[in-house]
Amino acid sequence: MPHPPLTAPTLDEEEGLTHTQACMSDQSVLDPARLEAELSQVLDPVFEKPMRAIGSLVSWRVDGTKVHLAIKLPSPSPTIAAKAKRRIEEACRRAGAEAVDFEISIETPMRDVMSDDPIPEVKNIILVMSGKGGVGKSTVATNLALALSRLGHRVGLLDADVYGPSIPTMMGILGHPVGRDGKIAPLERFGIRIMSIGFFLEDEKQAVIWRGPMIHNALQQFLRDVDWGALDFLVLDLPPGTGDVALTMAQRLKVTGVIIVTTPQEVALQDVYKAVSMCKRLNLPILGVVENMSFFVDSAGHKHEIFGKGGGQKVAELANAPLLGQIPLVQAVREQGDAGFPIVIAQPESEVAKVFLSIGEAVIERIARHHFERLGGERLPPSKAPARLRIIR
Ligand SMILES: Nc1ncnc2c1ncn2[C@@H]1O[C@H](COP(=O)(O)OP(=O)(O)O)[C@@H](O)[C@H]1O
Ligand SMILES: [Mg+2]
Repeated sequence: MPHPPLTAPTLDEEEGLTHTQACMSDQSVLDPARLEAELSQVLDPVFEKPMRAIGSLVSWRVDGTKVHLAIKLPSPSPTIAAKAKRRIEEACRRAGAEAVDFEISIETPMRDVMSDDPIPEVKNIILVMSGKGGVGKSTVATNLALALSRLGHRVGLLDADVYGPSIPTMMGILGHPVGRDGKIAPLERFGIRIMSIGFFLEDEKQAVIWRGPMIHNALQQFLRDVDWGALDFLVLDLPPGTGDVALTMAQRLKVTGVIIVTTPQEVALQDVYKAVSMCKRLNLPILGVVENMSFFVDSAGHKHEIFGKGGGQKVAELANAPLLGQIPLVQAVREQGDAGFPIVIAQPESEVAKVFLSIGEAVIERIARHHFERLGGERLPPSKAPARLRIIR
């Protein structure tokens, strides 16, 4: 049976709370002064600063040889929680605790929201872009959205590639969105809310000819008139090239950041560099670079760098942002994309799905750290509302 939480939680849509227990084997006496000293040293798993000083170790209480702690994390990601718990458990054990009981509240960082923001309930907006078509933007956007969702977040996916919408095919969803309370309801698949111009075309293969202002209007509608609801992340799959969509987004609202997708070879880099310099011009923070089609592993286990190497790293250096991950060229990625079951869903235990998950984790951590730095990098803001209780075993 889980222990009762430290403070009685009330229901809240926004925040998550977890409550777990871990048993210690040491038989010793718990020394409160030693416990305080040990806990004061524990570093936050994301910010790598003392949890107590920055406020992510909210409180603790000693009950015999048991310690009850309340902590605050930016994501329900199991990796982050495990890291925090391991560090705290070790500290408690050193002070003589036999059992540790956690109450974890999740506070996903939030971008700045202006008074006229069309989607104020969307905490973060991530643009997936590249200078060039065919490098895997849609594949990355789709699998990243699914990875963030698998890590426990509420996620939406907006197909902003009005020229060649591929999200309906990749997510295996067709249909016509309907109205709901004066807005358009997004379609939903694999737990993700989705909107695409593809849902409105008579014929899937129909060519769409857009000029700048039309794109601007369509995108405005996708933001303002779609009932996205509350989301932790809205991932946007941008059309190739640099321009209209990113510009519209940068003008209309505060974007959390951009993910640049590139392939490893030189020829592709020129276009990517343009995308990087456009981000700088528009003041769009670059969260990181994803190198796609980095290598191919043959049936004998040999690695082949078909498209050369080093492109992702070069772009990352230029962008002054981390290389978030390298995705291998895997036939199943294309096949599952075509079949409407992205690899993160179709083969969740595959190596390539794990790369997408680690990219998701890297994105979350980077966003959390950016947010913390913007707040001064000293202390997390106090919690607004008591959290909803969720029990994770
Ligand atoms: N890592 C990969 N391994 C195998 N095929 C891939 C990979 N990434 C993308 N593809 C395939 O390459 C094609 C182009 O990818 P896509 O995501 O549509 O690119 P973009 O959106 O940049 O035009 C698609 O058929 C996709 O399934
Ligand atoms: Mg695409």
